[in-house]
Amino acid sequence: MDKIRITGGQRLNGSIPISGAKNAALPLMIASLLTDETLTLVNVPRLSDVTALSRILSNHGADRTVAGKRIGQSAESGQTISLTARQIVDTCAPYELVSTMRASFWVIAPILARMGEARISLPGGCAIGTRPVDLLLMALERLGAEIRIENGYALARAPKGLKGGEIVFPKVTVGGTHTALMGAVLAQGTTVIENAACEPEVTDLAACLTKMGARIEGAGTPRIVVTGVARLGGAHHTVLPDRIEAGTYAMAVAMTGGDVVLEGVTPDLLQAALDALIRAGVDITATNEGIRVRRNGAAIAAVDIETQPFPGFPTDLQAQFMALMTMAKGTSRIRETIFENRFMHVQELARLGARIRLDGDVAIVEGVPKLTGAPVMATDLRASVSLVIAGLAAEGDTMINRVYHLDRGFEALEAKLSRCGALVERISG
Ligand code: UD1
Repeated sequence: MDKIRITGGQRLNGSIPISGAKNAALPLMIASLLTDETLTLVNVPRLSDVTALSRILSNHGADRTVAGKRIGQSAESGQTISLTARQIVDTCAPYELVSTMRASFWVIAPILARMGEARISLPGGCAIGTRPVDLLLMALERLGAEIRIENGYALARAPKGLKGGEIVFPKVTVGGTHTALMGAVLAQGTTVIENAACEPEVTDLAACLTKMGARIEGAGTPRIVVTGVARLGGAHHTVLPDRIEAGTYAMAVAMTGGDVVLEGVTPDLLQAALDALIRAGVDITATNEGIRVRRNGAAIAAVDIETQPFPGFPTDLQAQFMALMTMAKGTSRIRETIFENRFMHVQELARLGARIRLDGDVAIVEGVPKLTGAPVMATDLRASVSLVIAGLAAEGDTMINRVYHLDRGFEALEAKLSRCGALVERISG
């Protein structure tokens, strides 16, 4: 298994191109199952989750072509993927495929909408808590589906097609909102989704579905209204920039010091995280190219945060912000409200010398003057990258094990950091 060695202590200077968002690309790719025409997605990141989902979609009958790199495109330029599901050849998504990536469960909605039946393996356990799918299934039931759980599979049926209905989510769920949207676009009649997720990735999916011919109002607000249409067609859509990747690099610069432009991303996608960085003493400015992040000498101030659905502070940046706070002047409190058990990075950060105490859903982080490199290991994507950030600021070498987590969500991580002066090296093994 590959490892990454980081020799800490280098400031980061330069620019980093921000990739297309993984969390937008995945539901967009799944939306290709809603039509027999071609959906072309531009700026899809080169990530192992994208490859895994491609495999799952081809199992259902989607053909895929990937455009080659054009002259002038860098290694970091995203890819253009065309998906054509002329026929759904298999309405079953087996355990072996779904268990590798939770988001693949979302195929249940388009397969059910198009074929009137779907048999999708339940995703199973996950390192960041139980992550159930009850609300996704509830949404489909509200659209008239009959659902049974049998032998670890969700069996969904709607032989006469889905029907518009009222879906009220008791808590905000991104996956639930994606599922409700993809179920409702081809349903007969009107669907109202209340307490919908407002994440930019939901808005991006709705924008793409609209290009495909769907009728959707209110995406990006807690109330979405969908008027079902008889069929959807092909479309051409550019994946929005990855706000989590951008926020991660912003926190890396905040931690090491330096001056970096995050290219191609706008502040409105991650304002809450940028506000937290500003309170910590980091200079943030919007430029024509993207977001400029600077910290030169000033100490990092301790800042309390609480994760919230968009537009609040994203749970996917919680671990990275905690890494930053380990070197703050003073004590900060970090509250995780979205996922239980999303503090696995705490033990590993402690190996670098961080002082963190857990009290239920709150991590109390007492800043230390310096971290020192160590071998570490991580259990999920965001936790791994928090260790990378901490390693960049730590004295000496940090060896990150289980790099496959990073490859799921961060495109060209070593290349992007190296071009700003970081000493990062992948060791194949
Ligand atoms: C998506 C993101 C993930 C991010 C999360 C929250 C993708 C591929 N993943 O995950 O990176 O951390 O949003 O912003 O886009 N819940 C239920 N029942 C359900 C569904 C969810 O109780 O049926 C709960 C979850 O356990 C969690 C909360 O709702 O506590 C939010 O989860 P959700 O927004 O659904 O996360 P995902 O869509 O899985």
